[in-house]
Amino acid sequence: MKLGVLVVDDEKNIREGLGRALELDGYDVSLAADGEDALQNIQKGTIDLVITDLKMPRMSGEELLKTVAARYPNIPVIVLTGHGTIENAVNAMRMGAYDFITKPVNLDHLSMLVKRALGNRMLALEHQALKEEVERLENKRRYSQIIGKSTAMQKVFDLINQVAPTRASVLITGESGVGKELVADSIHHLSDRKNGPFIKVHCAALSENLLESELFGHERGSFTGAVSQKKGRFELADGGTIFLDEIGEISHTVQVKLLRVLQEKTFERVGGEKSIEVDVRVISATNRDLRAEIEAGRFREDLFYRLNIVNIAIPPLRERKEDIPLLIAGFLSEFSRENNKTIKGIDPKARSALYNYRWPGNIRELRNTLESAVVLAKGDIITLDDLPPILRREDEHGFIRLDLGITMAEAEKEIIRQTLYFTKNNKSRAAEILGIGRKTLHRKLDEYGLTAEFGPGESGTP
Ligand SMILES: Nc1ncnc2c1ncn2[C@@H]1O[C@H](COP(=O)(O)OP(=O)(O)OP(=O)(O)O)[C@@H](O)[C@H]1O
Ligand SMILES: [Mg+2]
Repeated sequence: MKLGVLVVDDEKNIREGLGRALELDGYDVSLAADGEDALQNIQKGTIDLVITDLKMPRMSGEELLKTVAARYPNIPVIVLTGHGTIENAVNAMRMGAYDFITKPVNLDHLSMLVKRALGNRMLALEHQALKEEVERLENKRRYSQIIGKSTAMQKVFDLINQVAPTRASVLITGESGVGKELVADSIHHLSDRKNGPFIKVHCAALSENLLESELFGHERGSFTGAVSQKKGRFELADGGTIFLDEIGEISHTVQVKLLRVLQEKTFERVGGEKSIEVDVRVISATNRDLRAEIEAGRFREDLFYRLNIVNIAIPPLRERKEDIPLLIAGFLSEFSRENNKTIKGIDPKARSALYNYRWPGNIRELRNTLESAVVLAKGDIITLDDLPPILRREDEHGFIRLDLGITMAEAEKEIIRQTLYFTKNNKSRAAEILGIGRKTLHRKLDEYGLTAEFGPGESGTP
């Protein structure tokens, strides 16, 4: 597929001359003698860029420009102007022209302009395709906040769906920032307890004594400072779900009490005698290795088995890089909206830096990085300059990292993907490096579902 360029000029010599030059640059050129002809041509849907004269019979270039800007905002328009009519040109820019060029046309200049304009268009289209995919996936899943389509995340989604309607305790494990809280949230909101309370407790944030009274409440006078009776979080969560974050940090005393709630569904307030009965579903999370904590004698094994009826393990982002493009698209839309900016895409260098980084802080770090990039971006494309220095450094390394345990097909997909990032989506170069024909490369892009990311088109992003 070649990119389509439409040349509109009432002077036959000019449009045919420009047309021939652009054909030599490898574009699929169409010609039109006036605005109306041009619009009919654009309606066919094969035009990626328009070059138009301003003064023409029937529909003028200005009218054409206005119509294209309104109906096809993604098609850039380059305006041709005669000498001494720079005012018209400036006016045209205000109306949304991509740029202008004066007659007689310098063909090298035109060639450069067209290349640049189409480059931006490709980025915008690529971003649009990813945005649509995010929306499609969001509609498919009911818990709209969790983005991901990797095999690993599909497994997580399946587990969420299976476990949500039950009252089984769930232990969510994974590194910091992988989305443990988000998953806990989804489980509650997909369960039949969704109209009941969802109570979160950050177990690492409180001292041992405070945590105990926070969870189970206390009677008046039970310790210094206990001036009145207080209900604990377990009582508040009655009929709903309690989320115990950083469960690996709790003390022995609290472990014992917790075990009893899980086994017998009853407990006493601190300093109280009356047994209180509750109906609470327990979800907990940790980034520690609880089995190692058990080995070391710091965590009770019987409690572990009660908490870990179902385990949802969320892998770190670097082990599911397929999710990165979707996450980027999702966060870009979110932060563009929030900051009232229209970010149309990410340039190839920035994209490959985002892709190659190891993300020790996982999705939280990616999210924060994109938020600051959107705020810092000067234009409507995110560039390498908008990213923190640590990402820019990593971009210089030229290697492909593959995780153990993947199939040959997955390895091949990853090699193709990373080579395309390396060549900045130049498919001829990528095919050359990979030692395969371009047709083969295109077939594989289809086969592996990589077209949303890299587009089906043949020309590399200039
Ligand atoms: N799959 C995802 N899709 C969209 N946003 C995500 C996803 N995973 C995580 N996030 C976002 O990343 C941030 C961190 O997620 P979350 O707080 O759930 O991580 P965590 O695993 O609980 O981390 P920690 O162990 O540090 O508490 C949140 O802003 C969350 O909304
Ligand atoms: Mg958390």
